[in-house]
Amino acid sequence: MPTLDLGVLVSGTGTNLQAVIDAVSAGTLDARIRLVLSNKPGVAALERAHRAGVPTRVLSHKGYARREDYDQALVETLRQAGARWIVLAGFMRILTPVFLDAFPMRVINIHPALLPSFPGVDAQGQALAYGVRVTGCTVHFVDSGTDTGPIIAQAAVPVMPDDTRDSLARRILAREHEALPTVLQWIAEDRVVVEPGSGASRARVIVRDRDPFLGFWPENR
Ligand code: GRF
Repeated sequence: MPTLDLGVLVSGTGTNLQAVIDAVSAGTLDARIRLVLSNKPGVAALERAHRAGVPTRVLSHKGYARREDYDQALVETLRQAGARWIVLAGFMRILTPVFLDAFPMRVINIHPALLPSFPGVDAQGQALAYGVRVTGCTVHFVDSGTDTGPIIAQAAVPVMPDDTRDSLARRILAREHEALPTVLQWIAEDRVVVEPGSGASRARVIVRDRDPFLGFWPENR
């Protein structure tokens, strides 16, 4: 089985990056992080990468007139580093087809809601404001929409009556940190297959021999 050569894109705190770093060093994820790339200097995610001895680059989006030009620079940097699979771990930029076509069905995002509910920014706040009783996180392939790509796996958490946005975000984040390395290991094991859509039907993901419903916290099924 080939080791996954990962490029991880970040913009912020990097706790999901940390979960991937920890899974690699624990031997539960067969991957090499070839590069952690941030669009912002000085973020905690870069510090986490430094501590783990993972190569980093900062490539600011400022100074690029067009999104496509920035994305082309991202592609070149990631390819030079040897990244073949891309993880968006809190990367706060929309990617254009220039990027997505360079890594077709090889860009993975983690989103803090049960998609297709609450796409976009502040999914936890959206869930709280709507009044749902269950939310969670979704690991999915990235397509050209906002959080619309084929879903690989989901985990659910309850919304408690006294939740704040932060308490809910923390509960979801704990599941994100399990879900992301788990799905990456499935990819490393070649268990994840995308069935193309046809006509009105969406592309769907098949996961071989693993349950892509990652359970309901605090109780598993
Ligand atoms: C996570 O909630 C993730 O789902 C979302 O951005 C946040 C990143 O957090 N896409 P972190 O930087 O990994 O701590």
